[in-house]
Amino acid sequence: MNFIVDAQGLGRTFKSGKADVEAVKNVTLQLEPGIIFGFLGPNGAGKTTTLRMLTTLLTPTKGAATIAGYDLANNPEEIRKNIGYVSQKGGCYRSSTARENIVLQGRLYGMSKQVASERAAELIKLLDLESFCDRAVETYSGGQVRRVDIAMGMIHSPSLLFLDEPTTGLDPQSRSYLWRLLKNLKKHENMTIFLTTHYLDEADALCDRIVIMDHGSLVRDGSPAALKREIAGDIITIGFEDKLAQENAVQVLGQNASVKQISTKEDAVVMHVDSGEDALARIVAELHAHNLCFKAVALTRPTLDDVFMHATGHSLREA
Ligand SMILES: Nc1ncnc2c1ncn2[C@@H]1O[C@H](COP(=O)(O)OP(=O)(O)O)[C@@H](O)[C@H]1O
Ligand SMILES: [Mg+2]
Repeated sequence: MNFIVDAQGLGRTFKSGKADVEAVKNVTLQLEPGIIFGFLGPNGAGKTTTLRMLTTLLTPTKGAATIAGYDLANNPEEIRKNIGYVSQKGGCYRSSTARENIVLQGRLYGMSKQVASERAAELIKLLDLESFCDRAVETYSGGQVRRVDIAMGMIHSPSLLFLDEPTTGLDPQSRSYLWRLLKNLKKHENMTIFLTTHYLDEADALCDRIVIMDHGSLVRDGSPAALKREIAGDIITIGFEDKLAQENAVQVLGQNASVKQISTKEDAVVMHVDSGEDALARIVAELHAHNLCFKAVALTRPTLDDVFMHATGHSLREA
């Protein structure tokens, strides 16, 4: 497999006064192309520092990496041609229009006026900027500015796009709209997206794979679903009309191979299972086969915050 990001033991220590700040301790990471990948962690975890190293903007104090097939230490120029980077702050001129900003960005990448204009038109469409792209950026909402920043970051059709906290500060509607656009971009431009976030719901809704980062280290790695499964499995709760049905259900379901643990709570039977969807179908079929009537079924899952808590000992919400 040709990894689009292959980092080995990357670290960065900042000298500040007498004390050293070890912002990133040891990042070892291999990313398969074509996914939306997320760094999830609280403020100060080291996400931006890692991103700045991977994008050639900051020299690591230890470790090595190849990005888009090029060596970070020896070939930063080639890396820059193949990646896009949208920083937390963004960087468009507020008195110019979105279209002017995007075309200018293309010109800075050495495109002719015509090629830059054509690419701008394409990006304006892809990021849904049509209705406002010919008035000044200073008149835009936060979500609209974000979309212009992203368009500028991908002017040169990079194979890998880095986004630092793309939706921080946006309202819920603009955030979920941006998620939809990013999923579409990944498909349409055949691009790998590497983003950072401190939002659990964002990591969950958007990312194919996430790494949880805390205090400069990576503490968990996997798809959101796999990470959640790892900690506890799912819980199925079935409520019964009467005690007899409940007792019979415990007998019957206790033998079911999908059920790892079974207990009762009031009128319900509570079961721990590996995979809720699979187990639920089998459990319901088994109850039907034994003519056991039930009145309610619930499937609950651990959240990413449970995963975070399990990995770090503290809640991301509190952080
Ligand atoms: N230039 C710098 N000098 C000293 N400390 C820094 C510098 N940049 C970042 N840090 C520190 O490194 C840690 C990680 O910061 P950062 O990578 O920005 O985290 P995140 O993006 O996850 O919020 C923080 O403790 C921060 O204060
Ligand atoms: Mg940051």
